[in-house]
Amino acid sequence: MESALYGPDGFFTRPGASGPRGHFRTSVHASPAFAGLMRRLLVRVDEALGHPDPFPVVDVGAGRGELLAAIAPHRADFGGRLRLTGVDLAGRPDGLPPEIAWTDSVPDGIVGALIATEWLDNVPCDVAEAGSSGFRYVLTDDSLGPAVSAEDAAWLARWYPPLPPGARAEAGRARDLAWASAVRAVSRGVAVAVDYGHVRDGRPRDGTLTGYRDGRQVPPRADGSTDITAHVAMDAVAEAGIASLVREKRDGDPYRLMVQRRALQALGADGTRPPIGLASTDPGGYVRALANASELGELLDPAGLGGHWWLVQAIGVAHPFGAGDGSMGT
Ligand SMILES: C[S@@+](CC[C@H](N)C(=O)[O-])C[C@H]1O[C@@H](n2cnc3c(N)ncnc32)[C@H](O)[C@@H]1O
Repeated sequence: MESALYGPDGFFTRPGASGPRGHFRTSVHASPAFAGLMRRLLVRVDEALGHPDPFPVVDVGAGRGELLAAIAPHRADFGGRLRLTGVDLAGRPDGLPPEIAWTDSVPDGIVGALIATEWLDNVPCDVAEAGSSGFRYVLTDDSLGPAVSAEDAAWLARWYPPLPPGARAEAGRARDLAWASAVRAVSRGVAVAVDYGHVRDGRPRDGTLTGYRDGRQVPPRADGSTDITAHVAMDAVAEAGIASLVREKRDGDPYRLMVQRRALQALGADGTRPPIGLASTDPGGYVRALANASELGELLDPAGLGGHWWLVQAIGVAHPFGAGDGSMGT
């Protein structure tokens, strides 16, 4: 997965790679409303931080920088203090507005916001198959390899319920480590991961490793010709983020883990269709409201993007989603 996605001929990093948008649809691509709602979250983070100057917003796994490019026009809302940085293993996209910085590693000491939409599902992981005497790795040709390492065995025992022989799981330690290190880069502020995934009670039994190419879901191939992705164990990632702060004796507010539908509604998204009566009194307004509702509809759809997870961690500031309100967290 590492070399197939990020090697010299890697799916994301080879010269001339078309970028995520050419192959699959994320919330960022689905609707400009996503960036608009992210802007509302940034307003809350900015307030919680006391309007820092500069106010950095770092997008990790930024793809072609689409989210930052959509946020950039809102700079005036932040009094020109926004500093936008895209982080990706792929090079700087052509045509990216010059005010957006680009780098291949997460900068340290962020006093602002770190956002990662559909990053962690592309962080390489191993697939393991349950057997009567523990898990074995599944090799690229789908045959069974050696027993999993002690660390992966411990991770699987901690984060998966007992699985029957033949069931498959993805060992997510690398995602936990990736998220923990991203969270550590935030000195004060908020770290947000948005991704498809699962929590312990709802882990799939057949594994989720899959591929995408040219907008279609395809069998994953390790030759750089397809995206390779697997759902993220979001509760494991969340705990790793908190644990990394505790180890450093830094303040980490409890995280909130909620589905996207709920997160966007908490940010004020309302996907209800306008009343039909508006069509005769204000036809233009009706069409605009209808378009808005259908754009939001895709982002809120519980069976689609609305069912993705939002992990929101506050570091040394009040949580932008307020206290508790029944969403999962510690
Ligand atoms: C599925 S795309 C998401 C793009 C964009 N965030 C979106 O939501 O449309 C995942 C991106 O993460 C990048 N990526 C994966 N591992 C990374 C790492 N360790 N550091 C920086 N970028 C990484 C990939 O190159 C790819 O562009």
